[in-house]
Amino acid sequence: RTVAVVLAGGSGQRIGLATPKQLLKIAGKSILEHTLAIFEQAPRVDEVVVMMNPGFVSDAEAIVQRAGLSKVTRVLPGGTSRNATTQLALDALAHLPADTTNLLFHDAVRPMLSQRVIDDCVTALESFHAVDVAIPSSDTIIEVDDDVITDVPVRSRLRRGQTPQGFRLATIRDAYVKAWDDPGFEATDDCSVVLRYSPDVPIHVVAGEEQNMKVTQPVDIFIADKLFQLASSATPEFSDEDYARRLTGATVVVFGGS
Ligand code: CTP
Repeated sequence: RTVAVVLAGGSGQRIGLATPKQLLKIAGKSILEHTLAIFEQAPRVDEVVVMMNPGFVSDAEAIVQRAGLSKVTRVLPGGTSRNATTQLALDALAHLPADTTNLLFHDAVRPMLSQRVIDDCVTALESFHAVDVAIPSSDTIIEVDDDVITDVPVRSRLRRGQTPQGFRLATIRDAYVKAWDDPGFEATDDCSVVLRYSPDVPIHVVAGEEQNMKVTQPVDIFIADKLFQLASSATPEFSDEDYARRLTGATVVVFGGS
């Protein structure tokens, strides 16, 4: 059984509005609704649990009702950090069998997740106990200390982590038990918790997609809106290849020259 946990407990401080970013509308629907619709349509996802910013639980419930999302079984308040929200989800799902339940944790603010990525994650969990989704980095990533470069890791070995991150329930639960025992515990995702506290568990990496972007900064709202316009005029399922195909035949304006 696969349960998708949609993490929507944040407040979107970097966007900076009173409304959390997961409730902002893109292409006529809230970001949260777009994301929930993707899991609703995923054939191998059995159940969806929404972890919502505590001040906006009723807004999320209204979205679920209005959109008729039948796989959503619960809308619960999230915690004060992303990891606290994950722990609250684990508490809420404590009754499920630890060895036969798979959890997919997904950022609510990645509303362009493809069915291909979900499917690859579910398949990977047949062989692995933990799975991440990542893409190569177009930018060179540098390490800094007080605005001075301390390292430039080899780009070909770097990936940008996305979500979903998938786990057997027993695996993620064990890692979190150990993590909360550590007074210095600090993380921004769930795979790093498994890597650090259950280092013997190999974490398989599934290929992500550029458009599985995380709406984080104000400019991302405009980019995401544009991507949705493109997608709705093409196919509902849009991949890197679909975007490349749409370039063919496009008018290319070359600036400069004589
Ligand atoms: N999240 C969560 N619970 C928290 C914090 C974050 O479930 N206490 C979720 C967010 O809602 C989001 C995802 O984790 O879907 C990724 O986090 P991020 O982009 O950092 O969201 P925010 O914390 O809302 O953004 P910001 O850091 O700008 O406030």
